[in-house]
Amino acid sequence: MTVIHWLGLLHPVLVILFVYPVVGATIRLGILVREKRLGITRQPDLVPVEHAAHGAWVTAGVVVAVLIAMVFSLLANGWPSGGVPRLLLLGLVSGGTLVALLQVRRAALRACFALLCWAGLLALGSQPEIWRLSDNPFSAGFWSSHYWSGVLLSGLLLFTTAARPEITRQPRFRRLHLTLNLLVMVLLAVQAITGTRDLLRMP
Ligand code: HEM
Ligand code: HEM
Repeated sequence: MTVIHWLGLLHPVLVILFVYPVVGATIRLGILVREKRLGITRQPDLVPVEHAAHGAWVTAGVVVAVLIAMVFSLLANGWPSGGVPRLLLLGLVSGGTLVALLQVRRAALRACFALLCWAGLLALGSQPEIWRLSDNPFSAGFWSSHYWSGVLLSGLLLFTTAARPEITRQPRFRRLHLTLNLLVMVLLAVQAITGTRDLLRMP
């Protein structure tokens, strides 16, 4: 095991130890929020607040884990010549906009910071050093790519986090939230499968 191997383990370990357990609690709390709204069971008023707070932790955990994975991919494949300041800037943009997204209240600002954060991840991921199975949507490799399902999952979580007040207030957004998060749960399972496959592929 070299230092790079240990660094490579940081991303899966963070996801397994922190993200997936919090996802479990988020899903359970989401079911309780629904039971409370439909009057099926009596739940404390804090349940919806706790569900949204756990969801925000999941989003933050996934974005940080993705940033760590990209740093690993870059180090494992050699730093790009002359591009280090640009990559640092992109990393800072992703991290900074995530922190800003969790703080701001106005809808336009929330939308801007979520989009900027996602754009930062996409720009970092589009570097040639980041390993992607395929970039062609007409090939099977694209649909089984850990990278593409990972950035889609990050985007969906960022959207959900940005739309927290709207999900609470508007039935249209609540239905959209439920539909998108069914996809999020499938993608989380896909990431576990393709991520374990990629661990086998590591040199
Ligand atoms: C892991 C996937 C998730 C699942 C399965 C899930 C599921 C649910 C469910 C079942 C509801 C209740 C809908 C209803 O009343 O019919 C809900 C509400 C809500 N969810 Fe999620 N959710 C997830 C992730 C998130 C995330 C990441 C956030 C944001 C950070 C979030 C924010 C909210 C908000 C704000 C509400 C409305 C709570 C209220 O009524 O005040 N959820 N979710
Ligand atoms: C929330 C779930 C996850 C997301 C969003 C995610 C996302 C990503 C992204 C964007 C990359 C960088 C692109 C790449 O190199 O493929 C990556 C790399 C990687 N991920 Fe994940 N991942 C998740 C879960 C996992 C899990 C559960 C494992 C293993 C058990 C795993 C193992 C790996 C490995 C080994 C790499 C490096 C691949 C390489 O460069 O050779 N990931 N992940």
